[in-house]
Amino acid sequence: MIKKLGNTFVLETKKTTYAFQVTETKHLAHLYYGRKIRLSEDAAGVKEVHIFQPGNGISYDKEHQNFTLDDLKLEMSSYGKGDAREPFICLTHEDGSVTSDFLYEKYEIKENKEEICGMPSSYDDEGNASTLLITLKDKAYDLTLVLKYSVYPEENVITRSAELINDSENTVKIRRIMSNQLDLDAGDFDFTNFTGAWTREMKKSVMPLKAGKIVNSTYVGVSSNRANPFTMISRRNATEDFGDVYGFNLIYSGNHYSAAEVSPYGKIRFVSGINPEGFEWTLDKKDTFQTPEAVMTYSAEGFTGMSHNMHRFVRKHIVRGQWRDKVRPILLNSWEACYFDISESKLLRLAKAGKEEGIELFVMDDGWFKGRNDDKRALGDWEPDPKKLPGGLKSLCDKVKRLGLDFGIWVEPEMINEDSDLFRAHPDWSLSIPGKDHSEGRNERFLDLTRTEVQDYIIEKMSKVFDSADISYVKWDMNRNMSDVYSASLDKERQGEVAHRYMLGMYRVMKTLTEKFPQILFEGCAAGGDRFDLGILSYFPQIWASDDTDAFVRSEVETNYSYGYPMSVISSHVSATPNHQTLRRTPLETRFNVAAFGVLGYEYNFPDLYADELNQIKADIEFYKQWRELFFFGDFYRGRKYQDASDITALANFTGNELEWTVVSPDKKKAAGMLMQMLVHPNSETAIFTPKGLDPDKDYHFYNRALKYNIKDFGSLINAVSPVHVRPDSFAHNMLAKKFHMDGELEDIKSSGSALMYAGVHLKPSFASVGYNNDVRYYPDFGSRIYLVEELDNGDEEK
Ligand code: GLA
Repeated sequence: MIKKLGNTFVLETKKTTYAFQVTETKHLAHLYYGRKIRLSEDAAGVKEVHIFQPGNGISYDKEHQNFTLDDLKLEMSSYGKGDAREPFICLTHEDGSVTSDFLYEKYEIKENKEEICGMPSSYDDEGNASTLLITLKDKAYDLTLVLKYSVYPEENVITRSAELINDSENTVKIRRIMSNQLDLDAGDFDFTNFTGAWTREMKKSVMPLKAGKIVNSTYVGVSSNRANPFTMISRRNATEDFGDVYGFNLIYSGNHYSAAEVSPYGKIRFVSGINPEGFEWTLDKKDTFQTPEAVMTYSAEGFTGMSHNMHRFVRKHIVRGQWRDKVRPILLNSWEACYFDISESKLLRLAKAGKEEGIELFVMDDGWFKGRNDDKRALGDWEPDPKKLPGGLKSLCDKVKRLGLDFGIWVEPEMINEDSDLFRAHPDWSLSIPGKDHSEGRNERFLDLTRTEVQDYIIEKMSKVFDSADISYVKWDMNRNMSDVYSASLDKERQGEVAHRYMLGMYRVMKTLTEKFPQILFEGCAAGGDRFDLGILSYFPQIWASDDTDAFVRSEVETNYSYGYPMSVISSHVSATPNHQTLRRTPLETRFNVAAFGVLGYEYNFPDLYADELNQIKADIEFYKQWRELFFFGDFYRGRKYQDASDITALANFTGNELEWTVVSPDKKKAAGMLMQMLVHPNSETAIFTPKGLDPDKDYHFYNRALKYNIKDFGSLINAVSPVHVRPDSFAHNMLAKKFHMDGELEDIKSSGSALMYAGVHLKPSFASVGYNNDVRYYPDFGSRIYLVEELDNGDEEK
């Protein structure tokens, strides 16, 4: 709900209030963002009081000697009139001046959420959102700035963007234009961001906001694995369940910038938008520039409360199309099973083995198009390789479909190899500086998507591929960062526009293709998580979150994505052990458990596996099919988290070694929890799992799956029970392992939601050398369990 009280604008959601006021000077003073409050008409007590000009400060004008912009919370700050903090906007005017002064002119309230032109934006198909448009005019130049606020009451989310309109007869250069600015009163706050690299995305860093500024940005052309655009500001004492937490994101896939700055007066300023580094946009007369849309939320209920706001928002107002509310098919992808070495017969063997396990969708990854035997050639051409696929895509697809599986493929449409027919025909179609050496990344270059004819080429080529067979799923990859950014089709004065124009072109291509093929399930990918953002999620309902399929790495990566993104957009696969990225060995049980909380898939050479593993995988898939609605639609909670493995004190104190996740159905009738450990902590008999999000007043049945363990996992300990000596890994050992299995422990507890959550469930002890029977947990390094929780109906004691 949006209302105007006197000269105060109030934006209300179910649990939050956001307010700002027009000052006497016609600037916009930010008043408040936080838990819901009732404001008096004049905002007494909430607005700042400034009686004298601080020494050495800049007075705004003669009539307002006591008014300095530098120490006022503002909705947006123009550069040049005394506010020396991070500005919202920096322009170079025709006369060379870099000073702007945007002042309030009028407002409009709309009872809907409008799309943002040419860019992905949030949407509302439930009729709850409303929008406030604030029009500002520059005092000295003919420029209009419209600040757009949309309010999503149910999700406690506010989005912001800005549009600059050049009403003058001159061009103006935009050097910086942000999407969001939030000024907060001084306080003990932390800033959290998520940085990383290929195969180790989303490392969480919490930094105190004390002085100066912290910047979270990327300048590699894409939203990047080095700094995800999602960030948080939290009160220092905030925990998972209590305390002030703000979450911020940007619906954008290119160079982004967020900064949290502590002013000399202690106030906090947060800004976010397109990265001004390398960006310069010439705005012609009568032209407009629209910024990407920023997303923010606040919760007084700690990190979990903030995450839940973001999760609901992403699920309902970012992800769209036919797949939004549908559980996803369990897929088997050929990449880690075959890499580039594919052929129709090999793929069919894999698909057949997948079908036997219960797989629903078979995905042919890279390597299928002409000459693509490695990553050095053929990107751009998109014709099936006749040697590998003699009958083309259709023949393979039809055969896969006859097995009873859906069929999907991998593409990387935005890229071109120098060694391709496309490059030979159109050498100027890639982003590169004419006549200069180019730096390659994975032997490929970006196609120049600032050009309409290149966008049209991709749309046409991809349409042909998608139409050539009954394709149900597309993995849309993108495998490099930008370098040598230059478009041969733009004037030299406009080269600072290339990176953003690329994004606009890319969004046009994605929008056209996803609208043309609404039945296809698209999955975004960028060497794993190099472009995991809300821009991509506006077109593709899920993203391959990391090329790292190691269950331990993934358990942390997924925990950290979960701060800003729902698990239902995080694609997660079970793969071989030792793992191909880390050589770490983790139990199959854990590999499945971790993947099941995301969108489950496999990339695993099933035809190579032995009966034990195949049986386990089959049982896992069957289990997942029974429970996947919960995993997909449930509310996700983080519990305990790992501490740095090097923190010996933490381990010695029995903390920091465990990870807990719970997913709870919206009606709180069902839940699934995961407990995972990093390393075995010997002789620790007491282990506790603390589910979250249950109804404290309901009674529940808490139990686990009946699993069996391989006696070979106990190594030469077999000789502690065997009447004859068994040489480890000998024929006899393998024969025994085939015949006998160790029963896993069973938990079977009936208790109230309050007891399960607040006292924690005390589990059966894990193996501690002195004995093992079926009341003892087999729990090696990286061991884990899924626990199931179901509401007990009255008289349903036997469940
Ligand atoms: C990227 C992707 C992988 C795989 C390969 C294929 O690295 O992230 O999943 O598709 O490309 O070349």
